[in-house]
Amino acid sequence: LADLPLAGRRAIVTSGPTREPIDPVRYIANRSSGKQGHAVAAALARAGAETVLVSGPTGEPDPPGVAIVRVETAREMLAACEQAMPADIVVCAAAVVDWRPADAAPAKLKKNGPAPPLLLVENPDILATLSSGPGRPALIVGFAAETNDVVAYAQAKLKKKNCDWILANDVSPASGTFGGEHNTVHLVSADGVEDWPRLTKREVAERLAARVVDHFATGNR
Ligand code: C5P
Repeated sequence: LADLPLAGRRAIVTSGPTREPIDPVRYIANRSSGKQGHAVAAALARAGAETVLVSGPTGEPDPPGVAIVRVETAREMLAACEQAMPADIVVCAAAVVDWRPADAAPAKLKKNGPAPPLLLVENPDILATLSSGPGRPALIVGFAAETNDVVAYAQAKLKKKNCDWILANDVSPASGTFGGEHNTVHLVSADGVEDWPRLTKREVAERLAARVVDHFATGNR
């Protein structure tokens, strides 16, 4: 059991982008390879957690030992997470599209005439919803991708979304984070800020899983 310190715990991880249809052939998406989210799901599963990975479309292979639920839109992602509840641990690593087209056209929009106006409406915030709902998981972790003032925005996000930890990362073009193998993150919590060195996404996932193990080992339920 020492090898499986999260045995008996349930985890839900979101990963990848969402796609929000404009019409049957066009969509709005976010930039996300799914590498970090998939690595987190794999690391939690290796630590013994029963792990559900709710993922938008990615080119990543299915992590071993993880139950995968494939979704496209933010609303599907939220519904899949709610269906996977209850959980002890939630890690939201998906790059969810913040606004979706208000009314997806049922048939392909044609190019004759002026460009169609795109009216957008706000998508549900999955992290905030799971953090404030009934049966709130004991430990909820979000990511915050920023191009500037990374830690300050993460601290604000922690409060606004009522989660426990935020892994804040720099996604400015110079960082090479998007699609790359590496990530430089700061673990932001009510206890303060921990700066982690530049690591591979797999190493970030391993370190996060180790912190989750510590969290539950030190008397948190
Ligand atoms: O507000 P922002 O998108 O920067 O917050 C990022 C964090 O919130 C990530 O953990 C992301 O997975 C999560 N998120 C979410 N649902 C949204 C938007 C963001 O779960 N609609």
